[in-house]
Parts: sequence; C-alpha cells; structure tokens
Amino acid sequence: MTLKTTISAAAARTAAPSISGLMKLALERPEVVSLAAGFVDQGSLPVEATADAAARILGDESAGRVALQYGTTAGDEALRAILIERLEAQHGVPPGTYREAVGRTVLTNGSAQLIYLVGEALLDPGDIVIVESPTYFVFLGPLETRGARAIRVPIDEGGLRLDALERTFEAIRDRGELGRVKLLYTIPEHANPTGISLAIDRRKPLLDLVRRWSAEAGRRIPILEDSAYHGLSFGPEEAPSLWSLDEERETVILARTFSKTFSPGLKLGYGVLPPSLVDPVLALKGNHDFGTANLCQKLARMVLADGEYDRQVARLKEVYARKAAAFLEAIDAHFGPMRDRVAWTRPRGGLYVWMTLPEGVDTGFDGPLFRRCLDEGVIYVPGEFAFAPEPTPPPRNHMRLTFGVPDEAALAEGARRLAAAVRATIE
Ligand SMILES: Cc1ncc(COP(=O)(O)O)c(C=O)c1O
Repeated sequence: MTLKTTISAAAARTAAPSISGLMKLALERPEVVSLAAGFVDQGSLPVEATADAAARILGDESAGRVALQYGTTAGDEALRAILIERLEAQHGVPPGTYREAVGRTVLTNGSAQLIYLVGEALLDPGDIVIVESPTYFVFLGPLETRGARAIRVPIDEGGLRLDALERTFEAIRDRGELGRVKLLYTIPEHANPTGISLAIDRRKPLLDLVRRWSAEAGRRIPILEDSAYHGLSFGPEEAPSLWSLDEERETVILARTFSKTFSPGLKLGYGVLPPSLVDPVLALKGNHDFGTANLCQKLARMVLADGEYDRQVARLKEVYARKAAAFLEAIDAHFGPMRDRVAWTRPRGGLYVWMTLPEGVDTGFDGPLFRRCLDEGVIYVPGEFAFAPEPTPPPRNHMRLTFGVPDEAALAEGARRLAAAVRATIE
C-alpha cells in the first residue's frame, strides 16, 4: 500500500519561486541573452580580496579556529559594531550616536533571511502587508507561506506615492481591516524591479504617515526598509535612510546585504531591528540555524576593516554605471521608434530597468511575446510576478530587465533582440 504524505498548509500554499525556471533555461541555453537573471557581474567578483582575507584569517591558527567554530545567533559583535559605525558615517552623525543599535543588529543568511524572519515574527494568516507596485517578487513568497495578504500601492518616478498610500489606508480602514495591517515593505534605493529610488522629500513624510495610521490602528505598523542596493549609486550617495529618520527607533527595520556590493556567495546580510523585535527575531533565527556562517562574517569583517570592501564598491559602481549606460543607449536606439507605446525607467543605480508595454500585451511565460523572445534568443522576467494580488488583478504588460550579468556587447544584442520581439508583437 502506498501511503500519502500530507504536507502542511503553509507548504501547500507556497509556490516554487517564479523565476527558477528562467535560471534553468539560462544555464541550458547559453546562446540566449538573459536579461532575467538576478545575478551580479561575474567578472568583477572580488576573488583576490576574498582569498587574501581568508588566508589571513586561516593563517592565524587561533583566529582560524574561532572562524571555523559556531558563532552566536545575533552574529559577530565586532562586525555588528563596524556596521553601525558605518551607518553613523553615512548619516554624518558623531561616532557613538547609534552605539546602542549594535545590540539590535542581527547578521543573517543574506537579507533574504532577515526579511523572511521579519515576516515570520509579525504575520499571521489573514494579516495585511502593504507593498510597492511593483515590488521585489521574492518577498511575496514568504507572505504566501505566512498566509498574509499583500496590497499594492502605486509608485511614480519618486517612488512610493504617499497620496495613494493614504487612500489605501483609508480603504482598508473603511473595510474595518486596519487592525490587520502589520507591515509596510519598501525598497527605497534603486529598487528591484524598477531601479527607482524614494525621493528625499517623501522620506520623513512617509514615516509620519505610517506613524499617524499606527496611532489610528492603535498599534505600531513597522516599516521594513530593504536597502539591498544601497551603495550602488552611479552618481551622488543615496538620500538618508528611513531608519536614520526614525528618531524613536521603533518603526523602521533596516535590511542590508553584502550580496550586491561584495559577493552573493558569502550570503551575508543584516538587519537593525526596533527593540521590540530583537527577541522574537533572534528566537526564530535560533530555530532556523542558531547563527549565520561564522567564516563568512569574519571575511566580511576583514574586508571592511582593510578597505577592500570600499574599493570593491567603488569598482562596482563604475562597472554597473557603464553597463547601465550601454544598455540604455541600446534600448533608446532600438525602442526609440516605439517610444509612443513603450516606456522604460532610467536607473541611477542598482541593476534593473523596468519596461512597460501597451496594455493588452501579455508578457507572461505563456504569452506570444515570451515565445518570440525565446525564438530571438533573449529572456526577461515577466512583470506580473512583481505585483501583489490586491486590490485588483495584477497587470501583465511589464518586464523586468537586468544589466547585471551580460557584458556590454551582450546587453546591446539583448536590447536588439528584445525590440525585434516587441515590435513583432505590438505591430
Ligand atoms: C530587493 C532585494 N532584497 C533582498 C534580496 C536578497 O538578497 P540576499 O539574500 O542575497 O541578501 C535581493 C536579491 O536579489 C533583492 O533584490
């Protein structure tokens, strides 16, 4: 007799990540230009700096033994202190201003784990999370697992639209659901998937708006500030983080990562939590793994201390600025004649361009455009994945394009192939 294994309700409502198929396809068909993969530039990965740091750590027997031992659930305290000092420097405040935040900082397996843990700490089935429209589609997965509802709020070229956020809160209140709003998730720098950043003059007002609605809800609604692309600005440094504007230190959860600015292979991220979330998140993380890989933390501490990290970020800014310029130039050239029907963002940092096609064009895997793109030899991420399911069915006429992995020649060729497929579809 074959007995059936019953999986949990949480596992049953969790779909496989929407782009795993795309990653497989890119590996199987190397001739295809992948404007889809969310990887980083292969050629500029910091092999030498990492090898050197590893040799220094492991070349010292006692430091080597510490690095190869388990660490603590919160992570290396010296590294957490360095990260907080760097926040002080970024925000131009006197050294020591944020010192107490070291105890509220947790090192995680990428920022992915931090944002997962925050969801786990805050959300029960039926709870509501407000997200940008579009948002980082991978974040929608854990929400599905928690059984939470995601409601989207439009953005424009200045990021999250505060008027629309106000209307969304009003609509939620009018339905009697304000008590279910447990989190607002935003990516204020060079967002995935649009490349757009939150305007400086919206930052404090966003915090004030959420505080006001928290008061109305009778409970604090935290903001999860995912700044995965912080540091990768092609021009001036980013505006002050929402976290730095949260003087009470109670509303904003800051999530950052070494993945984009150094190496995703280290899979090291961190979060600075409001006091009330420290114990719950650490308890949950303890059950996940009782601590992030210690060796990766020691490597990160070494490259931060010896300046290699900052040199790498400086190099990457140049690499991605060059790639973005080459890609946008090719898009301008090939899509220029379709400009009245096709729109695209012009990122000032990060890895992404967001393209909008005429309504009615279906960019999904089963639509004619994706099939044409496969024939032409180019792939993208269908935009529909980046939209929360409420308040209306997600639009299907967008594409996320990334210039992270292909070289400049491949980006130009990818833009040409994409334009050919789009032209054949919309004409
Ligand atoms: C917006 C955003 N947040 C978080 C992550 C997670 O990255 P990691 O877990 O490698 O830090 C990514 C990765 O693509 C991202 O784009």
